[in-house]
Amino acid sequence: MRIPPTDFKPYRTADGSYTLRSESWDVFHHSVVGAVNESTHVFIKAGLEAVHGPNVDVLEVGLGTGLNLLLTWIRCLEGKCAVRYTALEPFPLPVATLEELQYCEDLAWPGLHGPFLDLMTCTHDDWNGAEGGMTFRKLPLNVSEIDHEEMYDVIYFDAFGPNTQPELWTLQVFQRMHRALRHGGLLVTYCAKGDVRRTMQAAGFGVERLQGPPGKREMLRGRK
Ligand SMILES: C[S@@+](CC[C@H](N)C(=O)[O-])C[C@H]1O[C@@H](n2cnc3c(N)ncnc32)[C@H](O)[C@@H]1O
Repeated sequence: MRIPPTDFKPYRTADGSYTLRSESWDVFHHSVVGAVNESTHVFIKAGLEAVHGPNVDVLEVGLGTGLNLLLTWIRCLEGKCAVRYTALEPFPLPVATLEELQYCEDLAWPGLHGPFLDLMTCTHDDWNGAEGGMTFRKLPLNVSEIDHEEMYDVIYFDAFGPNTQPELWTLQVFQRMHRALRHGGLLVTYCAKGDVRRTMQAAGFGVERLQGPPGKREMLRGRK
């Protein structure tokens, strides 16, 4: 497994929200056209909001800055759903880097700053209760090794792209994620590459090409 670098620095994207950039790998955690816009479009609208029923089990692959977690939590606080959120992150970011991003202030939820950082930096594998009907756990697992079965309604697949970490976009990894979903469950990704779509299909997903977030023509959504 290729280990991500440690030189991530805040970078302001075109919608005004921050992401992280690594100069050594030349990668970003989100689209430079807009971090909040991309996360909202791909993971919240095409993923979370496309699941039927008020109680949703989410698996995120690649917790990173926690932006998808925060946007999901805000939906819970707004009374739209209740979520059990499992995030995989073998390489957690330092708290000083998370502090610099100021997502809670930018999203007009400044009171969440402390509780959000508490969730992001928890050091155990157990469930943490949070306000608004959300429970959260962070697992230090590599997605290539997960053996969860029929536990999730939606997977936010937010790994670095296939050119950066090709070992995370393989048939074996998609098969593991397929097994982890309940029947009818969804996997959403910002990636729209043809070979990724075909790999998802080979793993058993029915795959749709959806309109992408600003700056990207398409994205993919797989259904078990
Ligand atoms: C595109 S970034 C994360 C974006 C994140 N969701 C956010 O909003 O910041 C990809 C993340 O995947 C994590 N990652 C790298 N290898 C992984 C693996 N084998 N299993 C799970 N996550 C991994 C990285 O550490 C990084 O935080």
